[in-house]
Amino acid sequence: MKVLITGGAGFIGGHFANRLLQSNNVHIDLLDNFARAVHDPFLDALKAKPNVGVIERDLLLHGALDDLADDYTHIVHLAAIVGVVHVLKKPYDVLRSNEGMMFAALDLAHRQKNLERFVFASTSEIVAGTLLQYGIDIPTPETTPLCVPDPSDVRHTYLLSKLYGESLCHHSGLPFTCVRPHNVYGPRMGLVHVVPELAKKVLALPEGGELEVFSADHRRTFCYVDDAVEIMARLMTGGDDCQGVFNLGTQDPEVTIREMAQAVVDKIGKHVKLVDGPVMTGSPTRRCPDMGKTTAACGFTSQVSLAEGVGRTLDWYNEHVFKAGGPSAV
Ligand SMILES: NC(=O)c1ccc[n+]([C@@H]2O[C@H](COP(=O)([O-])OP(=O)(O)OC[C@H]3O[C@@H](n4cnc5c(N)ncnc54)[C@H](O)[C@@H]3O)[C@@H](O)[C@H]2O)c1
Repeated sequence: MKVLITGGAGFIGGHFANRLLQSNNVHIDLLDNFARAVHDPFLDALKAKPNVGVIERDLLLHGALDDLADDYTHIVHLAAIVGVVHVLKKPYDVLRSNEGMMFAALDLAHRQKNLERFVFASTSEIVAGTLLQYGIDIPTPETTPLCVPDPSDVRHTYLLSKLYGESLCHHSGLPFTCVRPHNVYGPRMGLVHVVPELAKKVLALPEGGELEVFSADHRRTFCYVDDAVEIMARLMTGGDDCQGVFNLGTQDPEVTIREMAQAVVDKIGKHVKLVDGPVMTGSPTRRCPDMGKTTAACGFTSQVSLAEGVGRTLDWYNEHVFKAGGPSAV
């Protein structure tokens, strides 16, 4: 197997590379411009392996991938502009850049001699238009009809870029797998995520302090990154059943943000009182993938419990970020 992972130095990309390294006979190239990813000990350990290469490259530069080989068996396209901050501040860039990156990855895939699979990371938010206009079933299957939300609303630019990306996959003529990640979490996911955000707040509170929890009653399912990359690896290397569009996540348990906050507090072990904060606008009250199709195709369901996943995540953040002194270590 020779695998190129765009956005490979990022959160999911780095863990996915580690998972693929469990197989014999694999070479992995991680391509990233380090817009969000950082050079850290995790990446250094990957780079030190003889069968891993790191290509520091901006996918949006003209001809960025022209010098890359034509013998990749798998191309995994994870690079994207992600995150609410970018979406709200630079909606045009989100649309333009995510499509530009997608075309660069697809053009490279089209000139491969023996490509077995093109994998594209879409998003759970792809059903947001349907949710707004008609409501959706919970758990939500991949067959949910997709409605286009108001394209003038900045918040929809990210999902529109992913919707267009999925459509490109369908019409690319390539063997493809689109995954729709649902709240994947774990070490090295940055600081703009509910788990490290809650942890930072708890750590800053005095013993007996009050933790304000936003959208406390909203319900989510969280997927620990080791489970997510196991599913991705199985889908990527699986047969025809593993082609098409798949939810990537955990179906149960569904937990409230309050319960997630409690899990963080329990792990840190501080006596803190949880109080309900405001509800975040635009945040769906429930999000939960129907994992039936994915489980049937890849024969695997998430194994890591919420307490275990939060524990492992916070152990990592404590060692590499909170003690080490900041986001540059993420
Ligand atoms: N983490 C989740 O729960 C989740 C949920 C929904 C969708 N996704 C999708 O999964 C993919 C991976 O997400 P992640 O959480 O690992 O995000 P991430 O930000 O850690 O990874 C994306 C990587 O792309 C790189 N990148 C951005 N612009 C680039 C460019 N012009 N050239 C080269 N590299 C560039 C960034 O530096 C970053 O390392 C993304 O496409 C994201 O939209 C993730």
